[in-house]
Amino acid sequence: MGNLLVVNIGELVTPQGRRARRGDAMGELLRIRNAFLEIRDGKIVGLGPMDEAPRDFPGNVLDVGGRAVTPGLVDPHTHLVFAGSRVEEYLHRARGERYTGGGILVTAEATRAATEDELVELAVPRLRKMLRCGVTAMEAKSGYGLSPLAEEKILRAIKRLEGLAPQRIVPTFLGAHAFPPDYGREEYIDLLVGEMIPRVAEERLARFCDVFCDRGFYTVDEARRILEAGARHRLVPKVHADELAPVGAAELAAEVGAISADHLLHVSDAGIKALAETNTVAVLLPGTAFVIEEPYPPARKLLEAGVPLALSTDFNPGSSPVLSLPFVMRLGVLKLKLSPEETLCASTLNAACAIGLAHEVGSLEPGKSGDLVVWDLRDIRELFYWFGDDVAWQVVIGGEAVWASP
Ligand code: NIG
Ligand code: FE
Repeated sequence: MGNLLVVNIGELVTPQGRRARRGDAMGELLRIRNAFLEIRDGKIVGLGPMDEAPRDFPGNVLDVGGRAVTPGLVDPHTHLVFAGSRVEEYLHRARGERYTGGGILVTAEATRAATEDELVELAVPRLRKMLRCGVTAMEAKSGYGLSPLAEEKILRAIKRLEGLAPQRIVPTFLGAHAFPPDYGREEYIDLLVGEMIPRVAEERLARFCDVFCDRGFYTVDEARRILEAGARHRLVPKVHADELAPVGAAELAAEVGAISADHLLHVSDAGIKALAETNTVAVLLPGTAFVIEEPYPPARKLLEAGVPLALSTDFNPGSSPVLSLPFVMRLGVLKLKLSPEETLCASTLNAACAIGLAHEVGSLEPGKSGDLVVWDLRDIRELFYWFGDDVAWQVVIGGEAVWASP
């Protein structure tokens, strides 16, 4: 954990607080021109205009030469660990076939066949690429194992990755991602509830329990049963909600007090109303809508109803082979019609809230971890404009430089 003084920041932009921001507050960020930021023992201790910067600093000084600085980005929904590729399916869809989620079983077959070591080896370079894009904390799900042994193998791989990459990684159990062909439907749900969830909780392999509640996958009643079983074992509920059809999954997320409801491409008005009355964060995944060519989620409608929004890649080999959160943030502005400020809040503080990390990361303010990104830009609005320019100039975690562009 380092001491670091960052100086000559052209523009420092950050949301503030430890709770998800909603409505107009999503766009109200702290902006300091010509700023400094001071990190001691890995934590932020001060920030402000350059003329107030400390004179004698016992540690490294990073002069960023007028570039823009934001908090480290937070990616709150990824399927980081899997084996194999779905390029065939992707090319069929590119020629007009519709996405149904059926390919999950193709990835599950490849992932079951891989060893834990192989899964770790496949994921390390993905994490490296995410780091270059400015992602300093993230969530990672199981869900391509779909059996007790294979789901645990994925969660153990995630646990090992935490020690192999500089990012914070929060694990989620998504055993209820699809129905595996080697079990009956009821039989698999009984296995999830009676065996897999208790074991995952006991071994502390996950913090959240997620269910794909959608057309062709888990029904609302099935998802409720699984999420309630998770909650009994202190796994906080999360929901893959209403991605393919408006099945009432957002309403279920509100009912069970989920920390987040994710996707929401087809959320109903009743679902929006239900979410607005809770602290559930809506995690929107516009990269998925882009890749599967479905309508984008109604971001402005959700925001105006008072639902806090976060953005994420949904990185996975089927519906979102997208590693770059900056690309998703550009879709946030261009397709979801969010402002640059709302988008930045959705990709930092609100994203941290969606994975229970907002006390530690998500904003630049005293007491939080010294996680930041220096962008090779003078005007932060340009981050949302240059498609393809995804690599940060420097990335810092806990006051340590973890990536510098060559
Ligand atoms: O979040 N929606 C369900 N699961 C993933 C996609 C999984 C896949 O196609 O492999 C998602 O989009
Ligand atoms: Fe997903």
